[in-house]
Amino acid sequence: MIIAVDGPLASGKGTIARHLANRYDLPYLDTGLLYRACALGVLNAGKDPSDPEAATISARKVDNTVLNDPELRSAKIGAAASRVAAIPSVRKALMNFQRDFADQTGGAVLDGRDIGTFICPHADVKLWVSAPAEERARRRHKELCARGEDISYAQVLEQLIERDARDAGRDDAPMQCAADAHLLNTGGLSIDAAFEAAQRIVDAAKAERP
Ligand code: C5P
Repeated sequence: MIIAVDGPLASGKGTIARHLANRYDLPYLDTGLLYRACALGVLNAGKDPSDPEAATISARKVDNTVLNDPELRSAKIGAAASRVAAIPSVRKALMNFQRDFADQTGGAVLDGRDIGTFICPHADVKLWVSAPAEERARRRHKELCARGEDISYAQVLEQLIERDARDAGRDDAPMQCAADAHLLNTGGLSIDAAFEAAQRIVDAAKAERP
C-alpha cells in the first residue's frame, strides 16, 4: 500500500505520515529532506540556491547518508530548499529516489508537496493535510524556538506565506491537492484527533480495495 501525504509547511503532514507508517508498518520518507539536503549542499559550496547548475549538481549527490543531518531542519535551509525545488532539473534528479522508495515491496508512506500528483499518482491513498496559515506559523515558530533558533512569530509567518506561494506557484510539479485526495484540515485538532481522522481515511480506503 502506498500512502501519499501532501500539504503545505507545518500542516501536520509529517507527524501524520510518520504515525501512519508506524500504524501500518510501512517505511517512511520525508521527501522535503531531499530538497533540504540539496539546498544544504549548495550553501556549503558557497553557491546561490537559485543557481540551476549548482543546485542540480548538489541534487545528484543526495542519498540516504545525508538525510539525518539536524542542520537540515533549520528555517534557513527550509527557505533555500524551496528555491532549489523550483528548478526543474533538481526535481528530475530527485524523482527516481522517491519513486523507487514508493515502489518497494509492500509499499511506503511518503510526505511532500507533489507525491499524490506527480511522484505517485497511482498511490492507494492520498491525503491533503492543511491548516490555517496562522496556526501553522505558530506550530513552526514553537518548533524552531525549541531548536534554539532566534526567530519571531512574525518572521515565521512571513516566510511561511512566501514559501507557500513559491511552492504553489512554480511551473514544475507545484504544490497542489490531487483531485482524488482526501482532505484533512488539522486546524484546531489535537494530534490524537488528527491521527484518528487520518487512520479512518486509510482504513476506509483499505476496505474498499479489491
Ligand atoms: O516539507 P519541507 O518543509 O521539509 O520541504 C522543504 C521544501 O522542499 C518545500 O518548501 C518545497 O519547496 C520542497 N518540497 C517539494 N516537493 C516535495 C517536498 C518538498 O518541492 N515533495
